[in-house]
Amino acid sequence: MTASRATAHGKVILFGEHAVVYGVPALAVGIDRGAWAEASPSAEPSSTLRVRDWNVAVDASDASIPLACALRDLVAVTREARPLASVAVEAGADLPPGGGLGCSAALGVAVARALDPGAPADVIATRVMSWERVFHGNPSGIDAAVASLGGCIRFQRDAEPRIERVRLPSPLHLCVGHSGQASSTKVMVDAVARFRERRPEIAAKSFDAIHTLVKNARLALEAGDVRAVGQLLDLNQMLLSGLFVSTPEIEQMCASARASGALGAKLTGAGGGGCVVALVESAEIGAEVLAAWKREGFDGFATTVSGQAVATARAPREQSLGGAP
Ligand code: PMV
Repeated sequence: MTASRATAHGKVILFGEHAVVYGVPALAVGIDRGAWAEASPSAEPSSTLRVRDWNVAVDASDASIPLACALRDLVAVTREARPLASVAVEAGADLPPGGGLGCSAALGVAVARALDPGAPADVIATRVMSWERVFHGNPSGIDAAVASLGGCIRFQRDAEPRIERVRLPSPLHLCVGHSGQASSTKVMVDAVARFRERRPEIAAKSFDAIHTLVKNARLALEAGDVRAVGQLLDLNQMLLSGLFVSTPEIEQMCASARASGALGAKLTGAGGGGCVVALVESAEIGAEVLAAWKREGFDGFATTVSGQAVATARAPREQSLGGAP
């Protein structure tokens, strides 16, 4: 094996997070921020991973560190398909960990690709599930699928995940802002599972409503009806609040995005902190939303999504937003 370098996308879930864990379809887009990894042959007995910007270095034989276990499992599942000696992996990401932007999946996909550059995107997404399980317990797989495929996809959990590409007739302008609080996907997914146990009827009604909303959102996205997409984002946010995964900061950011001209806004990912996504009609209105968030102390960035997979995520900035996935 010679040294190989690979990249992967971060993601924004537009519709259907949490419900997707229970088989409801979800819609998500790959963004041009993401992760990179470079794998080189190593003379050491076990593989290693260094995430440069986070100042983290792990050895796959150290079972006490989740990132090391994720590397161990990913190397093992890659070895089921092809011979692979020990590797030394250098990696980086320009996504906030715990931000709901699929940081751990992007890192996993970049590493999986660097380990096996010839593997197709769907195979990589499947392999990365072994990595994702270490961090998230029972992930739906949507993060790994978007990190690997990019573009806009409809994802449905099943024995074999059902993934369809959604064609956007025109680019989507999105603003993504961080609420300032990290969130744990595992903790939030567990919280929704407990809510579902306590209030099964309410949870079922919420998931049904989200399912309907996802169907309508797909039609609106394919028709290029951004106003309808915005309204559906707002409705999805209401349903997520009803599942108790929103926070006062998220509500504040959604309200100020709408007041600044956004067509709709909601949390994206697991909630309980993390990021908000707002849909805007133009880059100019996007700048207004970002300025409003900044005045209120929230960092954000603008991103544009076309219907096609973005060829590669761009090289991460020098400074990551820090932490472990
Ligand atoms: O917070 P993230 O980026 O890991 O997104 C989680 C999405 C959930 O639907 C809440 C969980 C899942 O596994 O799909």
